[in-house]
Amino acid sequence: MAGSLTFTMIKPDAVKANNIGNILQMINEAGFRIVAMKYTQLSAAQAGKFYEVHSARPFYGELVDFMSSGPIVAAILEKDNAVDAFRTLIGATNPADAAEGTIRKKYATSIGENAVHGSDSDENALIEGRFFFSGLEMI
Ligand code: CMP
Repeated sequence: MAGSLTFTMIKPDAVKANNIGNILQMINEAGFRIVAMKYTQLSAAQAGKFYEVHSARPFYGELVDFMSSGPIVAAILEKDNAVDAFRTLIGATNPADAAEGTIRKKYATSIGENAVHGSDSDENALIEGRFFFSGLEMI
């Protein structure tokens, strides 16, 4: 169903702070269905590839180092209008700008260490989901 999937990662900062359970609870309570999920750690090369679109940005090196610094949880989520609905749930990229009650407001500490990733378009949700999961892993 077009527009019904998004991709997320619970980032190394939130995993280290023992917030996997809290964040998954917020995702469930917001009505998302988990289509696929895995706990893993990216190599620097894999993180660099995932965030290749940002390779010209000044923060790219820092982003790659951080995203490969510890375990993450990657997941594909389903809900009507999933990309926009999930971006509303997680809040602004910079937690200082994130609305009350959002995941980043509660659990992020900085623009770089911002607890969760959420796809920014239906097209990127598919690309990002396929980066982590095969068809067999999507239920
Ligand atoms: P994310 O949604 O995972 O997509 C790209 C990431 O780059 C973003 O979250 C931030 O964590 C990170 N990012 C964006 N802007 C900056 C910045 N100015 N400094 C450090 N990291 C940034």
